[in-house]
Amino acid sequence: MNRYQGRVVAITGAAQGLGLAMATRFAAEGAVVALADVNEQALTDATGTLTDAHDTKHRTDVVDVTDSAQVNTWINGITADLGRLDVLVNNAGIIRDNRVEDITDDDWHAVIDVSLTGGFHCARAAFGPMKRQGYGRIVSFSSMSWRGNFGQTNYVAAKAGIVGMTRTLALEGARHGITANAIAPGLIETPMLASMNGPARDKLTNKIPMRHTGRPEDIAEAAAFLASEAAGYITGIVLDVDGGISIGSSIR
Ligand SMILES: NC(=O)c1ccc[n+]([C@@H]2O[C@H](COP(=O)([O-])OP(=O)(O)OC[C@H]3O[C@@H](n4cnc5c(N)ncnc54)[C@H](O)[C@@H]3O)[C@@H](O)[C@H]2O)c1
Repeated sequence: MNRYQGRVVAITGAAQGLGLAMATRFAAEGAVVALADVNEQALTDATGTLTDAHDTKHRTDVVDVTDSAQVNTWINGITADLGRLDVLVNNAGIIRDNRVEDITDDDWHAVIDVSLTGGFHCARAAFGPMKRQGYGRIVSFSSMSWRGNFGQTNYVAAKAGIVGMTRTLALEGARHGITANAIAPGLIETPMLASMNGPARDKLTNKIPMRHTGRPEDIAEAAAFLASEAAGYITGIVLDVDGGISIGSSIR
């Protein structure tokens, strides 16, 4: 499929995990992809993979989404070089899990700053060019945790914040051809999941009705749909991609 031919897609946290899987998917569908990440080495390795696999143009930038000046320079650079910005994927996120009384000020701010404030910085910078072209798609990463999760006060606050931000961006963007939606992944096999401790991961996996974790490609599939032209009447939603884990408890 070439449904992203002529489209410019910007993805944060694109050097590995879900970000890289989405970059690969959008590139495979013809997009020019702008990958941003704070990890320069991982970004270099990632673009090697992309170049090997696809003969598409892409752009990489070392960007810390917590720094609004870096974000503005990144987005301005994309529109100056590539002429437009069709899709923004707010994917960068980190975890610093602990029980509430053990979450330090640093752990709180770091998690909120990357996921929530970073997403805001990027959406604010992208809104102008998207409005001017009368077209835009913003896909931001929440998590199944947004409804509440033991040991994740900081992460849950950030991911619930993403839902509120998305619904408001949807309202403000609607008359300008801009949609804003969120994806709430369940347990997906990425370096972030690998960093979770084994017993906690196993306990959660046993709660998934489908009885297995998801693949980054499952998320890329959802993002490629929500960010497509065809999804133009869908805005302000949170799409669960989680093997059914968010449905709730089951006695069997
Ligand atoms: N993997 C899962 O099971 C899962 C579940 C629910 C939600 N999510 C969300 O999906 C998104 C991607 O997760 P992942 O599993 O691929 O994570 P990951 O840790 O594998 O990758 C995250 C990427 O973000 C980058 N990053 C971190 N801080 C940054 C910053 N300040 N500026 C720019 N880039 C930064 C990292 O360098 C890394 O490349 C995150 O928002 C995460 O919260 C993941």
